[in-house]
Amino acid sequence: MLTTISHTWFTVLQILCISGILLCAGQMSYGVTGGDKLEFNADQFIEEGMGWRGQSVKFRVYHNIVYVSNPVDAEYQCMNFFAPVEYFEGKSYGPYNAETAPIFFPNTVGGYMPGKPGNIPKDSSERINAIGMALLKGYVVAAPGARGRSLKDQNGQFTGKAPACIVDLKAAVRYLRYNDKVMPGDAGKIISNGTSAGGALSALLGATGDNMNYEPYLTAIGAASARDDIFAASCYCPITNLDHADAAYEWQFHGLNNYNSWMGKGVLNAEQIEISAQLKALFPAYLNSLRLKKAGGTLLMLDADGEGSFKEYVKSFVIASAQKALSDGEDLSGLDWMTINDGTVTDIDFDAFVAYATRMKPAPAFDALDLRSPENNLFGTATIDNQHFTLFSQEHSADHTLADPATVMLMNPMYYIGTPGTAMARHWRIRHGAVDRDTSLAIPVMLAAKLRNNGADVDFALPWGQDHGGDYDLEELFAWTDQICR
Ligand code: DHB
Repeated sequence: MLTTISHTWFTVLQILCISGILLCAGQMSYGVTGGDKLEFNADQFIEEGMGWRGQSVKFRVYHNIVYVSNPVDAEYQCMNFFAPVEYFEGKSYGPYNAETAPIFFPNTVGGYMPGKPGNIPKDSSERINAIGMALLKGYVVAAPGARGRSLKDQNGQFTGKAPACIVDLKAAVRYLRYNDKVMPGDAGKIISNGTSAGGALSALLGATGDNMNYEPYLTAIGAASARDDIFAASCYCPITNLDHADAAYEWQFHGLNNYNSWMGKGVLNAEQIEISAQLKALFPAYLNSLRLKKAGGTLLMLDADGEGSFKEYVKSFVIASAQKALSDGEDLSGLDWMTINDGTVTDIDFDAFVAYATRMKPAPAFDALDLRSPENNLFGTATIDNQHFTLFSQEHSADHTLADPATVMLMNPMYYIGTPGTAMARHWRIRHGAVDRDTSLAIPVMLAAKLRNNGADVDFALPWGQDHGGDYDLEELFAWTDQICR
């Protein structure tokens, strides 16, 4: 947010400008400059406008603000910053002003690849994205880039392996907090958003605020000395909890031997079927160790066969999703594994539902024995491109190295939720399509339950018929952000 002092300073500058005393070159400054590389330079912007369905907004864009003082890759460790022009004129836009506007913080990471800072689509009157929608609603937008698993420096060393992506997003948050007094928007109201790997990073950002484990990495890149906790996290289909995702996947998909994705399709061979059975058998012990509870306090458990209250709990979200679709007028009568009585979905055959959704990935789904998954590549090092990150896969493959367990931990929000020394986001919105097979439904269900059990406000749903993707319900997304900011 901008302080009164900077507003006063702004007004003084404006008066001087209007009276011709200062040469302003058409661009107004907050009077905020400095030698420190991490101080926001208010002079480097362009002004743009956009319209959508009868609404319009004029805004400033500050492109490619490098948010660390010692960047490894400045092309990615930078953000685009957008704010309605009114916030530089001491005025309101919609319900917000420069002090109160929440900061929408969408990352562009997909597949744990590098992500450039986000932008508004060129033909914004035809298409709208989350950044454009946020601006129309009066939000300030900080759209950070982040390093990803494929980046190399000129010596051929990898520079974006784990935990680089989360460290960069934290550094971007720190920049916003550090410059809160001189940038429009309230850094106490940062709302992160991301999809898939980006959804996982949004969850990680929300779950690990101010945790000291990230400090050495933040210091190395010259992050601003400020807090990195955020107000809220929106996570679409987070590909998270990677070190338990193989077991969770087989808990859901064991018995379905055909897999089918954009990466290829096929039938599990005998060895993969055996791996699938072994992984499925590992899941109940992990799930039970979490001691998750549903509302009312009932423990969520699984027996050795993977049956029990947790499975019923996952099923309840699928039923709720089908119910919403039915109430919205969708014809579900052709689904013979669903019981509908007088407009109410009373039951589903969960295994038949899973067969309907189909399996996407072979086993193991994440820590591939041949090291060819995106996650193997994420957990490489400066000199090793791909590594295992679970003992199970390392033990079942020939002579491959294992990622440092401390690094694996830095990428998994489940280890941090509710731990001392960690400031968790208060508000969460988690969406995972009911037929999204990129990870098990158990993954977002465990995340949402753990957050709720630790006092977070969690809006969680599995949208019916929705496959892998995000930002498909922008009106609902921003209705939620407005509600939590009110
Ligand atoms: C993404 C999808 C995956 O299936 C995966 O394993 C990792 C990342 C993604 O879309 O970002």
